[in-house]
Amino acid sequence: MYDFKGKTALVTGAARGIGRAIALELARGGASLALNDVNEAAAKEAVELAEKEGAPKAKFYKFDVADSAACNAAIDSVLTDFGGLHILVNNAGISIDALVMRFKDEDWKKTLDINLTGAFNLMRAATRPMMKQRSGAIVNIASVVGETGNAGQAAYSASKGALIALTKTVARELASRSIRVNAVAPGFIDTPMTQALPEAAKAKLAEAIPLARLGTAQDIADCVAWLASDKASYVTGGVIRVNGGMYM
Ligand code: NAI
Repeated sequence: MYDFKGKTALVTGAARGIGRAIALELARGGASLALNDVNEAAAKEAVELAEKEGAPKAKFYKFDVADSAACNAAIDSVLTDFGGLHILVNNAGISIDALVMRFKDEDWKKTLDINLTGAFNLMRAATRPMMKQRSGAIVNIASVVGETGNAGQAAYSASKGALIALTKTVARELASRSIRVNAVAPGFIDTPMTQALPEAAKAKLAEAIPLARLGTAQDIADCVAWLASDKASYVTGGVIRVNGGMYM
C-alpha cells in the first residue's frame, strides 16, 4: 500500500480494464482522482468504486485525449476542482489491426492520435503546473510490441514505440524540476481489449509466456502505483516491462 494522501491523480481511459485497476489502486493509497474516458456509463461506475476504495474525491472528465484543446481545458478544470495535479497516467489507448499493405489512412491516424498524441497533449498541459509545484510523476502505458513490433499491428506498435521515445525525452526535459516520467510496457493482459480474442488464440499466447499465464490489470496497476509513488523517487526515463517474461 502506497501513501498518496493529499495527491491528485489524472488517469485516462479509466472506465475499464487497466485504467480502472490503476485508478482503484491509487484510490487505495488515498489519492484524489480525476478519471477520464469517453465511455460515460463505465466511467461513472469507476468513480463510485474509487470513492469506495478510499479516494477522498473522485470526478469524471469526459473528453477525447486526441483533442488537444479538450486536454488543455481538462487540466485547467482538474486544477480548479482539486487544487493541484501530482500524478498523470496516460493509459487511454486503442488497437486497430491490419497488415500494413491493407492499413487504412484513417485507422493509422486514429491510432496515432489517441495512443501517442493523446499522451503528448496531456503531458504538455500538465507540465506547467507540475513545474510550478516542482514535483510530479507521469506514467505512460506503452506495450511490449512497442519494443518488439508485431505483425498486424503497424499503427499500434509504432504508437507505443514512439510513446517510449517520448517518455524518455520528457523525462530528460523535466528531471531538473523533480518531475519523473516513466513508461510501463505490459505484455498480454486479460482486459476487455483482449477478451475479444478466441480462447484457443489466448491459450496459445499464454504458452509463449514464461510465467505461463496472461497478466491481470492488477499486475499493471501495482507497477504504476509504485512508479507514481515516492518509493520510486530515483526512477525516471524507465521502461518497466510487466509481461511475464514474454520479452526480456
Ligand atoms: P480497454 O479497451 O479495456 O480500455 C481502454 C479505455 O480507454 C476504454 O475505457 C476506452 O473507452 C478508453 N479510451 C479509448 N479511446 C479514448 C480516447 N480517445 N479518449 C479517452 N479514453 C479513451 O484497454 P486495456 O486493455 O485496459 O488497455 C489500456 C492501455 O494498456 C492501452 O493503452 C493499451 O494499449 C495498453 N496495453 C494493453 C495490453 C493488453 O494486453 N490489454 C497490452 C499492452 C498495452
